Amino acid sequence: MLIDTYGRAATDLRVSLTDRCNLRCTYCMPEEGLAWLAKPDLLTDDEIVRLIRIAVTDLGITEVRFTGGEPLLRPGLVSLVERCAALRPRPRMSLTTNGIGLGRTARALKDAGLDRVNVSLDTLRPGVFQTLTRRKRHQDVLDGLAAARAAGLTPVKVNAVLMPGLNDDEAPELLAWAVANDYELRFIEQMPLDAQHGWKRDGMITAGDILASLRTRFRLTPEGEEERGAAPAERWLVDGGPARVGVIASVTRPFCGSCDRTRLTADGQIRTCLFAREESDLRGALRSGATDGEIAALWKRAMWGKKAGSGLDDPSFLQPQRPMSAIGG
Ligand code: GTP
Ligand code: 5AD
Ligand code: SF4
Repeated sequence: MLIDTYGRAATDLRVSLTDRCNLRCTYCMPEEGLAWLAKPDLLTDDEIVRLIRIAVTDLGITEVRFTGGEPLLRPGLVSLVERCAALRPRPRMSLTTNGIGLGRTARALKDAGLDRVNVSLDTLRPGVFQTLTRRKRHQDVLDGLAAARAAGLTPVKVNAVLMPGLNDDEAPELLAWAVANDYELRFIEQMPLDAQHGWKRDGMITAGDILASLRTRFRLTPEGEEERGAAPAERWLVDGGPARVGVIASVTRPFCGSCDRTRLTADGQIRTCLFAREESDLRGALRSGATDGEIAALWKRAMWGKKAGSGLDDPSFLQPQRPMSAIGG
């Protein structure tokens, strides 16, 4: 098991498959993109499958989420999913994507063994989408979502970040659309993980703002704590249910005490937390001939050192060196 000194066990592994992306969301990266990792620095498919095998057979991981950057940009994703589905015990597998290209691949991913997807979509307005992501791909995302639902990659969850002056008036509209389309909508508070270091606490839309805005149009009743488990999203029933809406309030209502995550970056570093400043080099161990047992021991040691929380409320908080797109959301 991957246990830390606060008694938490990590059973959920987030694997970043690439730091590249085909959008340029303003809360994530600059217009010109970033200095991408070089190909030889990325873990190969064989290395990724080996690490996931060790994680599920020796370390108690039961859930694997593929993230990016944009994971659909990784060639061979379908076969990677297929190989992971053949592991025993078989992990549950999900994907967090911006949805571009999902229209073409949803069916193949489902057939390969992917269980479900989370798709990022911040706005229903094509013009606002273009301002926020700096790309004209709104319809591609809507098509990707519909394809995921049709392929049975369900529940399909939609992640939305609200940005002041851009889409912060859109929460009720987004929720009405999500309910009508059978997507589970979650709003995410903007976090200090952008490459430009432009995040400001007093400039962000809080969970409180989002709930107040939703309540102008919907009746929200909280779901019980037992149902939440270790999920980052707090959820509410919409107008008595069964539809739900979630809020991931990493900044104003942190949930670190129940965190069950361990992360692997595309270049093979273990991170104990989104906000950690330290990484442990699994790629180096892999490439210098470490045995499965040595890799498992290294992973356990890294997780043992996991901090109590994100440290966001400490006056001395420093943003991690790597942005979200390189850590894997
Ligand atoms: P499910 O609820 O299982 O579908 O997954 P999820 O919500 O954890 O996954 P997703 O990739 O959709 O992440 C949604 C948001 O939650 C992203 O902004 C993530 O960065 C954030 N998130 C995921 N894990 C953590 C975490 O451990 N800590 C914090 N603060 N945020 C997280
Ligand atoms: N703060 C909050 N959410 C973010 N995402 C990307 N960058 C940030 C940020 N700085 C979201 C994406 C995606 C999810 C994985 O994280 O929109 O939905
Ligand atoms: Fe790409 Fe996700 Fe960053 Fe947007 S938030 S630019 S979709 S990695």
